[in-house]
Amino acid sequence: MANQMDYRTLGRTGLKVSALAFGCGDVGGLMVRGAPADRERAIARAVELGINYLDTAPSYGSGESERNLGVVLRALRPQVIVGTKCRLPDTTDVPGALTRSVENSLKLLGLERLDLFHLHNPIGRVTGERRLGVGEVLDAVAPAARRLKEQGKIRFFGITALGETGALHRALASGAIDTAQVCFNMLNPTAAHEVPLGYPAQDFDRLLDLAREKEVGTICIRVLAAGALSGQVARHPVAIPAVAPIASGPDYATDVERAKAFEPLIKEGYAASLVEAGFRFALGTETMSTVLIGCSDLGHLEFAAAAAAKGPLPAPALDRLRAIWPRLAA
Ligand SMILES: NC(=O)c1ccc[n+]([C@@H]2O[C@H](COP(=O)([O-])OP(=O)(O)OC[C@H]3O[C@@H](n4cnc5c(N)ncnc54)[C@H](OP(=O)(O)O)[C@@H]3O)[C@@H](O)[C@H]2O)c1
Repeated sequence: MANQMDYRTLGRTGLKVSALAFGCGDVGGLMVRGAPADRERAIARAVELGINYLDTAPSYGSGESERNLGVVLRALRPQVIVGTKCRLPDTTDVPGALTRSVENSLKLLGLERLDLFHLHNPIGRVTGERRLGVGEVLDAVAPAARRLKEQGKIRFFGITALGETGALHRALASGAIDTAQVCFNMLNPTAAHEVPLGYPAQDFDRLLDLAREKEVGTICIRVLAAGALSGQVARHPVAIPAVAPIASGPDYATDVERAKAFEPLIKEGYAASLVEAGFRFALGTETMSTVLIGCSDLGHLEFAAAAAAKGPLPAPALDRLRAIWPRLAA
């Protein structure tokens, strides 16, 4: 396929990012558990398709994703935007922990500077066992990230927009955040769409609108709800065997069952499959800068590129979705 990739501005970073981006996460797992030749082939093909942003994290495969991506980056030397993350274990010595994490990522990736650096912790109103308080994010993490920028170790600082909705809105409204990884898919469209009361997913309260207002670059995560939008429970052999949903149903099987509610889109000819509909739904959201894809094999990458080439879902398909969402809330 020729390079038909669409490029968009990643918020205030000014970077021109491809509409599809390549996730090196644990779920699909190609960059964690795939064979070395398959990993290199996938990145080479992604670049050939016009993808120019690769996302990884120290926690993906406990360092395997960054290590394996580093091997491919050294071999191919592609002109790409590379992003990684840091999950803070606690709030003692935030600058030290961030610096150590960045330096380790740079070493594994074989880079001198990270283009994008995201906080991986979910964010809450206050710091708790599983969340970092938004106060700490703005008063400790953001200033430490600013120093890392000044030192030339990172270009831009972002957050993972998971946790409590109010805290995420506060973080984006602060003006201290360059980019946000936002959970958005047909099962949880709330970052861009209103859903009825009782809808069975966390309400992100149109976070993407705020992101646009504050010029925060937006990166879609979980576009297929970790694969549940395929409507199949069975997992690829390279994929993580079990995965917990993010901001959607209570478990993966429930998400798979709920995904079947979107089958009218296929029966009525708006898309050829649920997966295609899932990609085109996210890609057609104009407040989203780029959509990360999670792959277990090269076929997943080719499929996503083919779906992107078909363009956004047409307006009547969105009307159909707006009629389906209330049924999930019932
Ligand atoms: N910041 C964060 O906390 C965070 C959280 C989540 C994700 N992310 C980023 O976002 C990226 C993508 O997210 P994700 O992998 O978690 O979820 P995802 O993209 O929603 O789902 C990926 C899964 O979808 C299935 N899939 C993909 N293409 C398919 C196709 N053509 N047909 C059928 N099934 C298909 C595969 O399942 P099988 O492998 O079972 O076939 C694949 O593992 C990650 O790699 C990571 O970079 C970031």
